[in-house]
Amino acid sequence: MNRSARSARATSNETSTTRRASRAEWWRSYFDDVYLREYEPLFTLERDRREVARLLDILGLPSGARVLDVPCGQGRHAHLLAEAGFLVDGVDLSPQLLARARARGTGPTLHYHERDMRRLPRSWNRRFNAVLNLFTSFGFFADPGDDRRVVAEFARVLRPGGVLIWHGGDRDGVMARFLDRDWWQTSDGTLHAQERSFDPLSGILTIESRWSGPDGSGEREHRIRLYTPTRLAELCAEAGLIVEAAYDGWRDRSLTRRSSEMLLVARKEGARRELPARKSRR
Ligand SMILES: C[S@@+](CC[C@H](N)C(=O)[O-])C[C@H]1O[C@@H](n2cnc3c(N)ncnc32)[C@H](O)[C@@H]1O
Repeated sequence: MNRSARSARATSNETSTTRRASRAEWWRSYFDDVYLREYEPLFTLERDRREVARLLDILGLPSGARVLDVPCGQGRHAHLLAEAGFLVDGVDLSPQLLARARARGTGPTLHYHERDMRRLPRSWNRRFNAVLNLFTSFGFFADPGDDRRVVAEFARVLRPGGVLIWHGGDRDGVMARFLDRDWWQTSDGTLHAQERSFDPLSGILTIESRWSGPDGSGEREHRIRLYTPTRLAELCAEAGLIVEAAYDGWRDRSLTRRSSEMLLVARKEGARRELPARKSRR
């Protein structure tokens, strides 16, 4: 093989490696303006307020408690939680979504950070009363070990006795009523369509999205590893987080085998017991 053929082959190998890497790491670029438009019907202030009200009920924390929303996306829960009186940090990897979150407002009780959820700051050991992982923000990584690592990071930054609230798709329920395609129109007249397939061995749901509208058309694919509540509770337990309640999504009722969404409440072990107040000695 001559020099130029060798170099062309090396370049083509690099391109296909890059393509493979970017396919596996779809989550680096997927959460952009197209994502915001695709899921626009779900992003209403009314819905965000309802969800935050439910979080406040479950958490029962005093104002001034520290809450981490990771990943926080465009800040729809983080902002309202700060308004409710908590000290809130939001972590996300998407510059576009973080820009939206920051544009809505920041302040001494609300900070956003552009970071990978697999590596939270070292200085955040035992910092938070609550960690929130909401709206199926889990199971993105090609290596399931990375999902384990994320849970370990959540556990590390929680105070003993603090809680993780995990909300997202429930593999059992999604499978019970699996729909392999759907389409809808967004307010600007764009038509969005999804085709979904599921691999039971890896647990990976593949979603192919297509759109067409006044701003153009396109297609792309993303993949999420769906978890059963059983497996997720095991992952939590490995990290020292004990699931103490499992709800049917945002509803105040128990998870069932048909729930397509679940909300798990897992508490970090090792809270120091409150000592009874000492009797004063005369
Ligand atoms: C489905 S959205 C949910 C966001 C938010 N919890 C909500 O309820 O709107 C998932 C989020 O995960 C973020 N993300 C994806 N990979 C990430 C990573 N490795 N580290 C941090 N955030 C990540 C995306 O940028 C996106 O904002």
